[in-house]
Amino acid sequence: MRVVILPDSQSVSIRAADIFCFVVEQYPDAVLGLATGGTPIGTYQELIRRNQTGQIRFAEATTFNLDEYVGLARTHPQSYWSFMHNNLFSHIDIATDRCYLPSGESDDIQEECHRYEELIEQSGGIDLQILGIGSDGHIGFNEPGSSLASRTRIKALTQRTRQDNARFFGSIDDVPQLAITMGVGTILEAELIVLLATGESKAEAVKNFIEGPVTSMVPASALQMHPNVIALLDAGAATLLQRRDYYNEVEQIQSALEGNHFL
Ligand code: F6R
Repeated sequence: MRVVILPDSQSVSIRAADIFCFVVEQYPDAVLGLATGGTPIGTYQELIRRNQTGQIRFAEATTFNLDEYVGLARTHPQSYWSFMHNNLFSHIDIATDRCYLPSGESDDIQEECHRYEELIEQSGGIDLQILGIGSDGHIGFNEPGSSLASRTRIKALTQRTRQDNARFFGSIDDVPQLAITMGVGTILEAELIVLLATGESKAEAVKNFIEGPVTSMVPASALQMHPNVIALLDAGAATLLQRRDYYNEVEQIQSALEGNHFL
């Protein structure tokens, strides 16, 4: 895993946008795995800016989001469908009929999960997957205890996740209890995974997933088993890492060798 510690959240957004641009320039028809939540918003803003100034085109790209709440209409202001349209899709040149999210409104959730897995497979698999991390170590909505081999399925959100997400809804009671999420096994099949973490509230989860054991109690720790992961952290999120100095040294050497920031 490449651990990149940057001074602030803005630098994390810019570096993440650099990686998107690098992948989409090489593969204009790239399949992009996207996340919602507070963390990637700065990256999406930077991508919108670059798209509107002609630095990156998404016209041929396909996207798959990690997750969606069960029971919210997709037009609900807090659905992840609304989030993606408001924060990215409606501002860029992407073909929205190739922007996929699981449907939390489906009558047959199991069938919907199966359909979503099949769609990802038919698209040729995810080239670049962006992840945030929950304060409990979740990725997607794979809460602690999730099988590290899990596929897209329905999950019950923990109280902690619902509390964390209450800021978007106004009250914890309004946060849905269930979501459809790509499984940890589904996520691990992406070619390149970039996890973004900002702020001290993520420091413990970051320490556990990078330096702790691989355990289903910290689902993000499964990323240690993937050969191509970049963790982009701001200083706050990196606070509790024991080997911070070493990661910084490696980063200096690697940037000098490669002449670019992220490969
Ligand atoms: C969102 C997702 C979640 C979030 C995580 C962090 O699609 O899958 O895993 O990435 O809950 O959320 P924020 O960024 O709001 O702290």
